[in-house]
Amino acid sequence: MKVKKAIIPAAGLGTRFLPQTKSIPKEMLPLVDKPAIQYIVEEGIRSSIENFIVISGRSKKSLEDHFDLAPELENILESKSKKDLTSSIEKIIEKTDFTYVRQKEPLGLGHAIWTARHAVGREHVAILLPDDIITGPVPAISQLIKIATQEKCNVVAVREVPIEDTKHYGVVAIKKQFSPNLFQVKNLVEKPEPNDAPSNLAIIGRYVLSPNIFDAIEETSSGHGGEIQLTDAISKLLSNGEKVFAYKVQGTRYDVGKPLGWLKANISLALKHPDYGEQMLKHLKELDRDILLMEGKAEILSKTSESMF
Ligand code: UTP
Repeated sequence: MKVKKAIIPAAGLGTRFLPQTKSIPKEMLPLVDKPAIQYIVEEGIRSSIENFIVISGRSKKSLEDHFDLAPELENILESKSKKDLTSSIEKIIEKTDFTYVRQKEPLGLGHAIWTARHAVGREHVAILLPDDIITGPVPAISQLIKIATQEKCNVVAVREVPIEDTKHYGVVAIKKQFSPNLFQVKNLVEKPEPNDAPSNLAIIGRYVLSPNIFDAIEETSSGHGGEIQLTDAISKLLSNGEKVFAYKVQGTRYDVGKPLGWLKANISLALKHPDYGEQMLKHLKELDRDILLMEGKAEILSKTSESMF
């Protein structure tokens, strides 16, 4: 079994980023010097993915343009000897096939995945959500592909979260633990309240699923938030007798689907960037000094106001 195709669902409305996302897709927001979706595609390429099926929707044309040649721009850059500015994206375009599928209405992540059924066919498929950027020496999706290939099963990526945060994630119930990071899944619950959560292992945006997921989605009615949930469809796979594993992926995860996470990711990634790291660190140290100074002043101010009474 080989996993050569990956679905990137990118048809959501991105309401948490409004008004920014009214005309610019959330997936195209920059993380330092390239859009979030490019990190995802690079992770896929490093994991031997050959075909990316991007689920797109209204106002998402820039996604297609980003992964396409731009002869006018390239000619200008060539004449100015600045060709290296676009070389990272050109390498991706050369090596990789993109298929775009339109989700006509944003009916949920499960529905978005279902729209890719004709492009995937009867093979296991990787799914990478551009809201989750995961960096580290071993690409996150390749960690899941390894397990799926060895065990001939479905695999979801998980991470431990504080129990009060389970209501933001799909959460797995564990049947068996094989190693500190690998579990067999008994069941999955979408966004449980802490009291109902079967564990604190939350699903994050990487999956490798069998092609039966498409029939399972078709049998799934709308769930949490009135959307067709991928988590519910994976539960169907379990009840149809398929094995589902959960793996605590190794790497640093950034939740770039919401403004605060996106801001934090930009700072962290800038610190690691070879061109900007040093200057960013210097800037943060200056900010830190300013903050300490401000806090010092605040104390002095409050002491002054106390002494007035
Ligand atoms: P989110 O749950 O983050 O939804 O989707 P969203 O619409 O992108 O963002 P908010 O919640 O309104 O701020 C998780 C992933 O699934 C895709 C999104 O593009 C995102 O990558 N998605 C979601 C779809 O492709 N279609 C959908 O109908 C819903």
